[in-house]
Amino acid sequence: MRDPSKILIVDDEFDIRLSLSTILEAHGYTTTTVSCAKEALDAVNLETPDLVLLDIRLPDQNGFDVCHQLREEPQTALLPVILVTAMNPYQEKVKGIEAGADDFLSKPINKAELLARVRSLLRIKELHDMAQSQAAHLAEWNRELEMRLTQESKLAEVARMLGDIAHEMKNLLMPVVTGTELLESELRDLHHDLSQLNSPSTQASHGRCNEIVEMVNSSGKRLRDHVKDLADCVKILSSEPQFSACRISKVVDQVFEPLRFSAREKGIGLRTEGLEDLPDIEADGRRLFHAFFNLVNNALSETPPGGFVNVKGILEPEGATVLLSFTDTGRGMPPEVRENLFTRQGLSTKQAGTGLGIKIIKAVVDAHSGHISVESQGGRGTTFYLRLPIHQTQETEETPA
Ligand SMILES: Nc1ncnc2c1ncn2[C@@H]1O[C@H](COP(=O)(O)OP(=O)(O)OP(=O)(O)O)[C@@H](O)[C@H]1O
Ligand SMILES: [Mg+2]
Repeated sequence: MRDPSKILIVDDEFDIRLSLSTILEAHGYTTTTVSCAKEALDAVNLETPDLVLLDIRLPDQNGFDVCHQLREEPQTALLPVILVTAMNPYQEKVKGIEAGADDFLSKPINKAELLARVRSLLRIKELHDMAQSQAAHLAEWNRELEMRLTQESKLAEVARMLGDIAHEMKNLLMPVVTGTELLESELRDLHHDLSQLNSPSTQASHGRCNEIVEMVNSSGKRLRDHVKDLADCVKILSSEPQFSACRISKVVDQVFEPLRFSAREKGIGLRTEGLEDLPDIEADGRRLFHAFFNLVNNALSETPPGGFVNVKGILEPEGATVLLSFTDTGRGMPPEVRENLFTRQGLSTKQAGTGLGIKIIKAVVDAHSGHISVESQGGRGTTFYLRLPIHQTQETEETPA
Protein backbone atom coordinates (compact mmCIF):
# COMPACT_ATOMS: atom_id res chain seq x y z
CA MET A 1 0.00 0.00 0.00
CA ARG A 2 1.34 3.44 -0.89
CA ASP A 3 2.05 6.16 1.63
CA PRO A 4 -0.06 8.32 2.03
CA SER A 5 -3.09 6.10 1.40
CA LYS A 6 -5.45 7.21 -1.34
CA ILE A 7 -9.20 7.43 -0.63
CA LEU A 8 -11.92 7.74 -3.24
CA ILE A 9 -14.97 9.74 -2.07
CA VAL A 10 -18.19 9.08 -4.00
CA ASP A 11 -21.08 11.39 -3.18
CA ASP A 12 -23.47 13.45 -5.29
CA GLU A 13 -23.51 16.30 -2.73
CA PHE A 14 -20.72 18.80 -3.18
CA ASP A 15 -20.71 19.85 0.52
CA ILE A 16 -20.28 16.27 1.74
CA ARG A 17 -17.47 15.59 -0.74
CA LEU A 18 -15.74 18.77 0.38
CA SER A 19 -16.09 18.12 4.12
CA LEU A 20 -14.96 14.46 3.84
CA SER A 21 -11.92 15.30 1.75
CA THR A 22 -10.99 18.24 4.06
CA ILE A 23 -11.07 16.01 7.16
CA LEU A 24 -9.17 13.18 5.50
CA GLU A 25 -6.51 15.36 3.86
CA ALA A 26 -5.96 17.14 7.19
CA HIS A 27 -5.07 13.70 8.58
CA GLY A 28 -2.51 12.91 5.91
CA TYR A 29 -4.58 10.98 3.32
CA THR A 30 -4.85 11.91 -0.34
CA THR A 31 -8.37 11.98 -1.77
CA THR A 32 -10.16 11.93 -5.11
CA THR A 33 -13.79 12.97 -5.28
CA VAL A 34 -16.46 11.94 -7.81
CA SER A 35 -20.22 12.46 -7.89
CA CYS A 36 -21.79 9.42 -9.61
CA ALA A 37 -21.48 5.62 -10.00
CA LYS A 38 -19.94 5.73 -13.47
CA GLU A 39 -17.24 8.18 -12.40
CA ALA A 40 -16.64 6.03 -9.32
CA LEU A 41 -16.02 2.84 -11.36
CA ASP A 42 -13.75 4.76 -13.78
CA ALA A 43 -11.77 6.29 -10.90
CA VAL A 44 -11.33 2.89 -9.22
CA ASN A 45 -9.73 1.55 -12.41
CA LEU A 46 -7.65 4.63 -13.15
CA GLU A 47 -6.51 5.67 -9.70
CA THR A 48 -6.52 2.33 -7.85
CA PRO A 49 -7.50 3.83 -4.47
CA ASP A 50 -6.80 2.03 -1.17
CA LEU A 51 -10.32 2.62 0.15
CA VAL A 52 -13.70 3.88 -1.13
CA LEU A 53 -16.22 5.97 0.80
CA LEU A 54 -19.39 5.22 -1.14
CA ASP A 55 -22.69 7.05 -0.80
CA ILE A 56 -25.73 4.84 -1.29
CA ARG A 57 -27.88 7.38 -3.12
CA LEU A 58 -26.23 8.29 -6.39
CA PRO A 59 -27.87 9.82 -9.47
CA ASP A 60 -27.15 6.99 -11.97
CA GLN A 61 -27.00 3.76 -9.84
CA ASN A 62 -27.15 3.11 -6.12
CA GLY A 63 -24.11 2.38 -3.96
CA PHE A 64 -25.13 -1.31 -3.47
CA ASP A 65 -24.89 -1.91 -7.24
CA VAL A 66 -21.52 -0.20 -7.40
CA CYS A 67 -20.35 -2.36 -4.48
CA HIS A 68 -21.60 -5.52 -6.24
CA GLN A 69 -19.70 -4.60 -9.41
CA LEU A 70 -16.51 -3.97 -7.46
CA ARG A 71 -16.77 -7.38 -5.78
CA GLU A 72 -17.20 -9.12 -9.11
CA GLU A 73 -13.88 -7.83 -10.49
CA PRO A 74 -10.84 -9.80 -9.23
CA GLN A 75 -8.71 -6.62 -8.90
CA THR A 76 -11.27 -4.89 -6.67
CA ALA A 77 -12.88 -7.91 -4.98
CA LEU A 78 -11.08 -7.06 -1.73
CA LEU A 79 -10.91 -3.26 -2.02
CA PRO A 80 -12.20 -1.82 1.31
CA VAL A 81 -15.59 -0.10 0.85
CA ILE A 82 -17.36 1.98 3.50
CA LEU A 83 -21.00 2.59 2.62
CA VAL A 84 -22.30 5.99 3.72
CA THR A 85 -25.96 5.58 4.71
CA ALA A 86 -28.51 8.31 5.24
CA MET A 87 -31.91 6.75 5.67
CA ASN A 88 -32.87 3.56 7.50
CA PRO A 89 -29.46 2.39 8.74
CA TYR A 90 -30.59 -1.12 9.77
CA GLN A 91 -32.25 -2.02 6.44
CA GLU A 92 -29.39 -0.45 4.44
CA LYS A 93 -26.77 -2.28 6.48
CA VAL A 94 -28.32 -5.66 5.63
CA LYS A 95 -28.36 -4.79 1.93
CA GLY A 96 -24.84 -3.40 2.23
CA ILE A 97 -23.50 -6.62 3.76
CA GLU A 98 -25.15 -8.57 0.95
CA ALA A 99 -23.49 -6.26 -1.58
CA GLY A 100 -20.06 -6.91 0.03
CA ALA A 101 -19.46 -3.64 1.92
CA ASP A 102 -16.83 -3.78 4.67
CA ASP A 103 -18.20 -1.06 6.98
CA PHE A 104 -20.84 1.64 7.35
CA LEU A 105 -21.05 5.31 8.29
CA SER A 106 -24.24 7.19 8.99
CA LYS A 107 -24.96 10.74 7.91
CA PRO A 108 -24.42 13.25 9.43
CA ILE A 109 -20.87 12.05 9.60
CA ASN A 110 -19.04 12.01 12.89
CA LYS A 111 -15.40 12.99 12.33
CA ALA A 112 -13.89 10.71 14.99
CA GLU A 113 -15.91 7.72 13.77
CA LEU A 114 -14.95 8.42 10.14
CA LEU A 115 -11.25 8.50 10.98
CA ALA A 116 -11.44 5.40 13.21
CA ARG A 117 -13.22 3.32 10.54
CA VAL A 118 -10.89 4.49 7.76
CA ARG A 119 -7.80 3.72 9.87
CA SER A 120 -9.04 0.28 10.85
CA LEU A 121 -9.93 -0.76 7.28
CA LEU A 122 -6.63 0.56 5.92
CA ARG A 123 -4.77 -1.45 8.57
CA ILE A 124 -6.59 -4.59 7.47
CA LYS A 125 -5.82 -3.78 3.82
CA GLU A 126 -2.15 -3.30 4.66
CA LEU A 127 -2.02 -6.70 6.35
CA HIS A 128 -3.83 -8.25 3.43
CA ASP A 129 -1.44 -6.65 0.89
CA MET A 130 1.50 -7.94 2.93
CA ALA A 131 0.07 -11.47 3.00
CA GLN A 132 -0.52 -11.29 -0.75
CA SER A 133 3.02 -10.18 -1.53
CA GLN A 134 4.40 -12.91 0.75
CA ALA A 135 2.22 -15.45 -1.03
CA ALA A 136 3.60 -14.18 -4.36
CA HIS A 137 7.17 -14.53 -3.02
CA LEU A 138 6.43 -18.03 -1.77
CA ALA A 139 4.96 -19.02 -5.13
CA GLU A 140 8.09 -17.64 -6.84
CA TRP A 141 10.38 -19.58 -4.46
CA ASN A 142 8.33 -22.68 -5.04
CA ARG A 143 8.66 -22.33 -8.81
CA GLU A 144 12.41 -21.81 -8.47
CA LEU A 145 12.74 -24.79 -6.16
CA GLU A 146 10.80 -27.02 -8.56
CA MET A 147 13.00 -25.84 -11.43
CA ARG A 148 16.18 -26.56 -9.46
CA LEU A 149 14.92 -29.99 -8.46
CA THR A 150 14.20 -30.82 -12.09
CA GLN A 151 17.62 -29.53 -13.16
CA GLU A 152 19.34 -31.42 -10.38
CA SER A 153 17.63 -34.68 -11.21
CA LYS A 154 18.62 -34.19 -14.87
CA LEU A 155 22.20 -33.46 -13.80
CA ALA A 156 22.23 -36.55 -11.60
CA GLU A 157 21.09 -38.62 -14.56
CA VAL A 158 23.81 -37.12 -16.80
CA ALA A 159 26.41 -37.77 -14.08
CA ARG A 160 25.26 -41.39 -13.80
CA MET A 161 25.49 -41.84 -17.58
CA LEU A 162 28.93 -40.21 -17.68
CA GLY A 163 30.07 -42.56 -14.92
CA ASP A 164 28.81 -45.57 -16.91
CA ILE A 165 30.44 -44.35 -20.13
CA ALA A 166 33.76 -43.69 -18.38
CA HIS A 167 33.68 -47.17 -16.85
CA GLU A 168 32.94 -48.74 -20.24
CA MET A 169 35.72 -46.74 -21.93
CA LYS A 170 38.19 -47.71 -19.24
CA ASN A 171 37.41 -51.39 -19.92
CA LEU A 172 37.71 -50.96 -23.69
CA LEU A 173 41.01 -49.11 -23.39
CA MET A 174 42.64 -51.83 -21.33
CA PRO A 175 43.19 -54.20 -24.32
CA VAL A 176 44.50 -51.27 -26.41
CA VAL A 177 47.18 -50.43 -23.83
CA THR A 178 48.19 -53.99 -23.02
CA GLY A 179 47.86 -54.97 -26.72
CA THR A 180 50.38 -52.33 -27.82
CA GLU A 181 52.79 -53.41 -25.08
CA LEU A 182 52.59 -57.02 -26.33
CA LEU A 183 52.87 -55.87 -29.93
CA GLU A 184 55.99 -53.90 -29.05
CA SER A 185 57.75 -56.95 -27.63
CA GLU A 186 56.61 -59.11 -30.61
CA LEU A 187 57.95 -56.54 -33.05
CA ARG A 188 61.21 -56.31 -31.13
CA ASP A 189 61.74 -60.09 -31.49
CA LEU A 190 60.73 -60.05 -35.16
CA HIS A 191 63.08 -57.20 -36.02
CA HIS A 192 65.85 -58.87 -34.05
CA ASP A 193 65.50 -61.93 -36.30
CA LEU A 194 65.19 -59.77 -39.43
CA SER A 195 68.23 -57.71 -38.45
CA GLN A 196 70.34 -60.75 -39.39
CA LEU A 197 69.56 -59.78 -43.00
CA ASN A 198 71.11 -56.38 -42.25
CA SER A 199 69.07 -54.64 -44.90
CA PRO A 200 68.59 -50.82 -44.55
CA SER A 201 64.87 -51.13 -45.29
CA THR A 202 64.43 -53.56 -42.37
CA GLN A 203 66.17 -51.11 -40.03
CA ALA A 204 63.99 -48.22 -41.24
CA SER A 205 60.86 -50.35 -40.80
CA HIS A 206 62.00 -51.25 -37.28
CA GLY A 207 62.36 -47.55 -36.40
CA ARG A 208 58.93 -46.64 -37.86
CA CYS A 209 57.17 -49.54 -36.09
CA ASN A 210 58.72 -48.52 -32.77
CA GLU A 211 57.53 -44.95 -33.27
CA ILE A 212 53.98 -46.02 -34.18
CA VAL A 213 53.69 -48.46 -31.29
CA GLU A 214 55.08 -45.84 -28.91
CA MET A 215 52.56 -43.26 -30.18
CA VAL A 216 49.54 -45.60 -29.90
CA ASN A 217 50.66 -46.80 -26.49
CA SER A 218 51.27 -43.36 -25.00
CA SER A 219 48.02 -41.94 -26.43
CA GLY A 220 46.13 -44.97 -25.10
CA LYS A 221 47.65 -44.47 -21.65
CA ARG A 222 46.88 -40.75 -21.66
CA LEU A 223 43.30 -41.46 -22.71
CA ARG A 224 42.98 -44.13 -20.00
CA ASP A 225 44.23 -41.66 -17.37
CA HIS A 226 41.82 -38.94 -18.57
CA VAL A 227 38.91 -41.37 -18.48
CA LYS A 228 39.93 -42.48 -14.99
CA ASP A 229 40.08 -38.83 -13.87
CA LEU A 230 36.66 -38.21 -15.41
CA ALA A 231 35.17 -41.29 -13.73
CA ASP A 232 36.66 -40.28 -10.35
CA CYS A 233 35.43 -36.73 -10.74
CA VAL A 234 31.89 -37.79 -11.67
CA LYS A 235 31.86 -40.26 -8.77
CA ILE A 236 32.95 -37.63 -6.26
CA LEU A 237 30.75 -34.83 -7.53
CA SER A 238 27.63 -36.95 -7.82
CA SER A 239 27.91 -38.32 -4.29
CA GLU A 240 26.79 -36.45 -1.16
CA PRO A 241 29.50 -34.09 0.15
CA GLN A 242 31.37 -35.42 3.18
CA PHE A 243 32.31 -32.52 5.45
CA SER A 244 35.17 -32.69 7.90
CA ALA A 245 37.89 -30.37 9.25
CA CYS A 246 40.01 -29.39 6.29
CA ARG A 247 43.33 -27.53 6.14
CA ILE A 248 43.36 -25.33 3.06
CA SER A 249 47.17 -25.04 2.90
CA LYS A 250 47.34 -28.84 2.72
CA VAL A 251 44.83 -29.10 -0.12
CA VAL A 252 46.73 -26.41 -2.07
CA ASP A 253 50.00 -28.34 -1.53
CA GLN A 254 48.33 -31.48 -2.90
CA VAL A 255 47.20 -29.48 -5.94
CA PHE A 256 50.64 -27.92 -6.54
CA GLU A 257 52.38 -31.29 -6.29
CA PRO A 258 51.38 -32.75 -9.69
CA LEU A 259 51.44 -29.31 -11.38
CA ARG A 260 54.87 -28.20 -10.12
CA PHE A 261 56.76 -29.97 -12.90
CA SER A 262 54.82 -28.42 -15.81
CA ALA A 263 54.89 -25.00 -14.08
CA ARG A 264 58.70 -25.21 -13.84
CA GLU A 265 58.95 -26.29 -17.48
CA LYS A 266 56.94 -23.24 -18.51
CA GLY A 267 58.86 -20.93 -16.18
CA ILE A 268 55.83 -20.06 -14.06
CA GLY A 269 56.07 -19.62 -10.30
CA LEU A 270 53.57 -21.25 -7.92
CA ARG A 271 53.11 -19.18 -4.73
CA THR A 272 50.94 -19.09 -1.65
CA GLU A 273 50.20 -16.32 0.83
CA GLY A 274 48.55 -16.45 4.25
CA LEU A 275 47.27 -20.02 3.90
CA GLU A 276 49.13 -21.29 6.98
CA ASP A 277 47.31 -18.72 9.17
CA LEU A 278 43.83 -19.86 8.13
CA PRO A 279 41.74 -21.91 10.53
CA ASP A 280 40.58 -25.36 9.41
CA ILE A 281 37.28 -25.14 7.55
CA GLU A 282 34.48 -27.67 7.47
CA ALA A 283 34.71 -28.96 3.90
CA ASP A 284 34.75 -31.93 1.56
CA GLY A 285 38.50 -32.19 0.94
CA ARG A 286 38.21 -34.23 -2.27
CA ARG A 287 35.80 -31.72 -3.78
CA LEU A 288 38.01 -28.79 -2.75
CA PHE A 289 40.97 -30.53 -4.38
CA HIS A 290 39.11 -30.79 -7.71
CA ALA A 291 38.03 -27.14 -7.57
CA PHE A 292 41.50 -25.82 -6.65
CA PHE A 293 43.14 -28.11 -9.21
CA ASN A 294 40.97 -26.73 -12.01
CA LEU A 295 41.61 -23.14 -10.89
CA VAL A 296 45.41 -23.54 -10.79
CA ASN A 297 45.50 -25.65 -13.94
CA ASN A 298 43.45 -23.05 -15.87
CA ALA A 299 45.70 -20.28 -14.56
CA LEU A 300 48.82 -22.18 -15.67
CA SER A 301 47.54 -22.65 -19.19
CA GLU A 302 46.71 -18.93 -19.53
CA THR A 303 49.96 -17.57 -18.04
CA PRO A 304 52.98 -16.85 -20.24
CA PRO A 305 56.55 -17.78 -19.12
CA GLY A 306 57.97 -15.62 -16.37
CA GLY A 307 54.58 -15.14 -14.71
CA PHE A 308 53.21 -16.62 -11.50
CA VAL A 309 50.10 -18.10 -9.94
CA ASN A 310 49.39 -17.04 -6.37
CA VAL A 311 46.88 -18.60 -3.94
CA LYS A 312 46.11 -16.24 -1.08
CA GLY A 313 43.84 -16.75 1.92
CA ILE A 314 42.46 -14.36 4.53
CA LEU A 315 40.13 -14.89 7.45
CA GLU A 316 37.35 -12.36 6.97
CA PRO A 317 36.62 -9.81 9.75
CA GLU A 318 33.51 -11.52 11.16
CA GLY A 319 35.48 -14.74 11.49
CA ALA A 320 32.80 -16.84 9.82
CA THR A 321 34.27 -17.11 6.32
CA VAL A 322 37.60 -17.35 4.55
CA LEU A 323 38.31 -15.53 1.32
CA LEU A 324 40.62 -17.34 -1.10
CA SER A 325 42.00 -15.66 -4.19
CA PHE A 326 43.62 -17.47 -7.12
CA THR A 327 45.58 -14.84 -9.03
CA ASP A 328 47.58 -15.25 -12.21
CA THR A 329 49.57 -12.89 -14.40
CA GLY A 330 48.09 -14.38 -17.54
CA ARG A 331 46.26 -13.17 -20.63
CA GLY A 332 43.00 -12.45 -18.80
CA MET A 333 39.69 -13.47 -20.30
CA PRO A 334 37.58 -11.69 -22.91
CA PRO A 335 34.36 -10.04 -21.56
CA GLU A 336 32.09 -12.51 -23.41
CA VAL A 337 33.80 -15.47 -21.68
CA ARG A 338 33.59 -13.75 -18.28
CA GLU A 339 29.89 -12.88 -18.63
CA ASN A 340 28.82 -16.50 -19.19
CA LEU A 341 31.51 -18.08 -17.07
CA PHE A 342 29.36 -19.40 -14.19
CA THR A 343 26.33 -20.22 -16.31
CA ARG A 344 25.41 -23.31 -18.27
CA GLN A 345 26.39 -21.45 -21.45
CA GLY A 346 30.00 -21.12 -20.22
CA LEU A 347 32.28 -22.58 -22.88
CA SER A 348 35.91 -23.45 -23.36
CA THR A 349 38.09 -21.22 -25.51
CA LYS A 350 40.78 -23.89 -25.70
CA GLN A 351 41.25 -26.17 -28.66
CA ALA A 352 40.86 -29.41 -26.74
CA GLY A 353 39.03 -27.94 -23.73
CA THR A 354 35.79 -29.38 -22.34
CA GLY A 355 34.57 -26.27 -20.49
CA LEU A 356 33.82 -28.57 -17.55
CA GLY A 357 36.47 -27.07 -15.24
CA ILE A 358 34.53 -23.94 -14.23
CA LYS A 359 31.31 -25.95 -13.86
CA ILE A 360 33.05 -28.31 -11.44
CA ILE A 361 34.49 -25.35 -9.48
CA LYS A 362 31.06 -23.69 -9.25
CA ALA A 363 29.38 -26.96 -8.19
CA VAL A 364 31.99 -27.43 -5.44
CA VAL A 365 31.59 -23.85 -4.17
CA ASP A 366 27.78 -24.26 -4.18
CA ALA A 367 28.02 -27.55 -2.29
CA HIS A 368 29.86 -25.61 0.46
CA SER A 369 27.29 -22.74 0.44
CA GLY A 370 30.10 -20.49 -0.72
CA HIS A 371 30.37 -17.78 -3.33
CA ILE A 372 32.59 -17.39 -6.37
CA SER A 373 33.43 -14.32 -8.46
CA VAL A 374 36.09 -13.30 -10.93
CA GLU A 375 38.02 -10.20 -11.93
CA SER A 376 39.99 -10.24 -15.12
CA GLN A 377 41.89 -7.69 -17.17
CA GLY A 378 43.11 -8.40 -20.70
CA GLY A 379 46.89 -8.79 -20.66
CA ARG A 380 47.12 -8.22 -16.89
CA GLY A 381 45.77 -11.41 -15.39
CA THR A 382 42.81 -12.97 -13.64
CA THR A 383 41.75 -13.45 -10.05
CA PHE A 384 39.08 -15.90 -8.93
CA TYR A 385 37.65 -15.18 -5.45
CA LEU A 386 36.15 -18.01 -3.41
CA ARG A 387 34.34 -17.17 -0.18
CA LEU A 388 33.84 -20.31 1.93
CA PRO A 389 32.12 -20.62 5.31
CA ILE A 390 34.20 -22.04 8.14
CA HIS A 391 31.24 -24.06 9.40
CA GLN A 392 28.56 -25.77 7.35
CA THR A 393 25.09 -25.13 8.77
CA GLN A 394 23.19 -28.39 8.94
CA GLU A 395 19.82 -28.11 7.22
CA THR A 396 17.02 -29.59 9.29
CA GLU A 397 13.32 -29.94 8.50
CA GLU A 398 12.56 -26.85 10.61
CA THR A 399 15.05 -24.66 8.73
CA PRO A 400 14.22 -24.89 5.04
CA ALA A 401 16.95 -24.03 2.57
N1 LIG B 1 42.74 -18.09 -15.11
C1 LIG B 1 42.14 -17.88 -16.28
N2 LIG B 1 42.56 -16.90 -17.12
C2 LIG B 1 41.96 -16.67 -18.30
N3 LIG B 1 40.90 -17.36 -18.77
C3 LIG B 1 40.43 -18.35 -18.00
C4 LIG B 1 41.00 -18.66 -16.72
N4 LIG B 1 40.30 -19.68 -16.18
C5 LIG B 1 39.34 -20.00 -17.08
N5 LIG B 1 39.41 -19.22 -18.16
C6 LIG B 1 38.53 -19.22 -19.36
O1 LIG B 1 37.38 -19.98 -19.05
C7 LIG B 1 37.21 -21.01 -20.02
C8 LIG B 1 36.53 -22.20 -19.37
O2 LIG B 1 37.39 -22.84 -18.44
P1 LIG B 1 37.14 -24.37 -18.07
O3 LIG B 1 38.11 -24.77 -17.05
O4 LIG B 1 35.69 -24.52 -17.77
O5 LIG B 1 37.39 -25.10 -19.42
P2 LIG B 1 38.78 -25.26 -20.18
O6 LIG B 1 39.90 -24.98 -19.24
O7 LIG B 1 38.73 -24.45 -21.43
O8 LIG B 1 38.73 -26.78 -20.56
P3 LIG B 1 39.28 -28.00 -19.66
O9 LIG B 1 39.02 -27.59 -18.25
O10 LIG B 1 38.50 -29.15 -20.11
O11 LIG B 1 40.73 -28.11 -19.98
C9 LIG B 1 38.58 -21.27 -20.53
O12 LIG B 1 38.58 -21.85 -21.83
C10 LIG B 1 39.20 -19.88 -20.55
O13 LIG B 1 38.79 -19.16 -21.69
MG1 LIG C 1 40.02 -25.93 -17.37
